[in-house]
Order: sequence, then structure tokens, then C-alpha cells
Amino acid sequence: MELNKRYRRLRSSSVVRNMVAETSLTADNFIVPLFLVEGTNKREEIPSMPGYFRFSLDLLKAEIIELKKLGLRSVLLFVKVPDNLKDNEGKEALNSQGLMQRAVRFIKEIDPEMLVMTDVALDPYSSYGHDGIVSGQEIVNDASVEVLAAMSLSHAQAGADFVAPSDMMDGRVKAIRAKLDGAGFTKTGILSYSAKYASCFYGPFRDALDSAPGFGDKKTYQMDFRNSTEALKETLLDIEEGADIVMVKPAGAYLDVIRRVKDNVQVPVAAYQVSGEYAMIKAAAANGWLDEKQAIIESLTAIRRAGADVIASYFAKDYAKAIQDSKFKI
Ligand code: PBG
Repeated sequence: MELNKRYRRLRSSSVVRNMVAETSLTADNFIVPLFLVEGTNKREEIPSMPGYFRFSLDLLKAEIIELKKLGLRSVLLFVKVPDNLKDNEGKEALNSQGLMQRAVRFIKEIDPEMLVMTDVALDPYSSYGHDGIVSGQEIVNDASVEVLAAMSLSHAQAGADFVAPSDMMDGRVKAIRAKLDGAGFTKTGILSYSAKYASCFYGPFRDALDSAPGFGDKKTYQMDFRNSTEALKETLLDIEEGADIVMVKPAGAYLDVIRRVKDNVQVPVAAYQVSGEYAMIKAAAANGWLDEKQAIIESLTAIRRAGADVIASYFAKDYAKAIQDSKFKI
């Protein structure tokens, strides 16, 4: 055949493929979610997230040291709150001696350069398992925003580098920025879950934190998965209100949204490969239906290719290990 273009030439060896690859992803790009629990000597595996654990603070130290060795320099903290500390107002969320606040201080002591981010939402603290304050059947916006701003300040005071509001209340980024600045915390950043969808893929996470909604669902505040223009609208507003980094969540089923956001904003875009995405790959791999390592690399690289500058993923350690392994080839 006479062909003046043979595109297979650029795919003919791994050297040439590596040279022209359009996408790269390193440990620097990851945020590692960490689940924390009260008590000592606890490293509890989450049943619906095999291979992922809740740590008590004493056992967290080894984990932080391991992350550093792998070049993973950013963590996002979530706490499992005992039932007796849950209420409708999220009082425990503001406790300067609470698990979240202690965890931030503890990590900063072990590894001062670790970038510490904290989840800001009421669900782990809420007796109703909702992200805001409940009145009747309603998740009340403005009163919730007040608590979320106070919670953010409390995390900043403990030493958090970024607060990460995941609640999807209207106006929370603006209120959080004002609260932080008003108290002199102008250096504390906001990573906003800007386009967070009401998703079944959060199921395993709610097992991990025992934070499933006690009634109804989260569709009056988290976004409708049929929409993408709405994602842009929410994201642009969060940037206007002061978000430093915006996030799309989940990631794998929302690659179009990541791309659309990336093409329309000038701040870094993060994406969260959520618990259900982790569980799906784990379950298929456990059955021998997928090659786990390949599925991890491919799914994360696809999220990066779609436009994510930063990725939060339960596979961060696996990815970092894989690329450190000289035998590993894409
Ligand atoms: C809390 C929060 C959730 C997740 C992150 N922060 C759960 C939810 O909104 O119900 C999900 C993370 C995951 O599934 O990995 N607001």
C-alpha cells in the first residue's frame, strides 16, 4: 500500500510511545484521603473498601511516613465520629480538641511540610447524616453555612493548609473565605468541591464513616447527574467567591465534566476518584476479572487526561508504588 501517513510508527516501541505520550501523572498530583477514628491501636479495614483502612492517631504516624517515602505530599482528612457526639448542629465539628483538629496538629508535628486538607461538611457529625442542619425535612442553607465557616476556622486554627467544603450549600465558599480572612487566616486555602454530584458511588465512603443519610437523599444540595452546564455555573461561582482549587466529583463517570470545567477556568482543577470507583476496581480484580494494577493506572491517567491537575484517590499509594517500580511499564 502507498500510504504517506502511517500512524503506527509512533506506537512501535515503548520508547517512542513514552516520548510522545500526551499525559503524565506523578505522585505530586495526588491527594490521599485518610479516614480517622478515635481510640488507640486501630487499623480497621473498611469492608466495602478492601485494602483501605481507618486509623487511630497513634497508628497514623507510620502511614504518614510511608506517604512521604512514596512522594505523596498531600492528605485529605475525614473523621468517624462516635454516635454520642453527633447532633443536629455539628457542635463536635467546632471542638478544638476534636479528632479532626487533633489529627491536623499531629500530622503537622510528624511532617510539617505535608499539605493537610480537611473535609468540611456536617455529615459525619450529624445525627441525621446530612451535610447541613436539618429542620423538619429540609437541609437549611444559611444556618448550615454559618457552622461550616466556623468549622473551617477551627481547622485553620489547628493548622490545616486547605479546607475542603464538600457540602454543596449555597454561598459557603464566600462565607468561609470571609471567616478565615476576618481571623487573619489569609494563607489558608479553599479547595471547593464545586461540582459534586448526588452519586451512588459514595456508598462505601458512607460505610467507612457511618455517615449515610438517616432520611431522604442528598439531591436537594448535591448536583443532578444529568447536568453539566450546572457544573460550570457552580464552579465559576465558587471561583468568584474565593475558591483556590475547584473539584469535580466523582471522576470516572464525569470525565466530560472535568474537561468542560478545565477548559473554562483559570484555577487548578481537582477530581475525586471516589469510594465506589475504588470498590468497583477492587471487586473486579478480586474476582480475577480485571488486572488491578492496569485498571488503577488506566483509570487515573484517564482522569488526568480529561483535565484534572490534581486527583484525590484511594489508589494514590498503589499508583505511586507502581511508578517507582522500574519493572512497571504502561
Ligand atoms: C461528605 C463527603 C462525602 C464524600 C466526600 N465528602 C460523602 C457524601 O457526600 O455523601 C464522598 C467520598 C467518597 O465516596 O469517596 N460530605
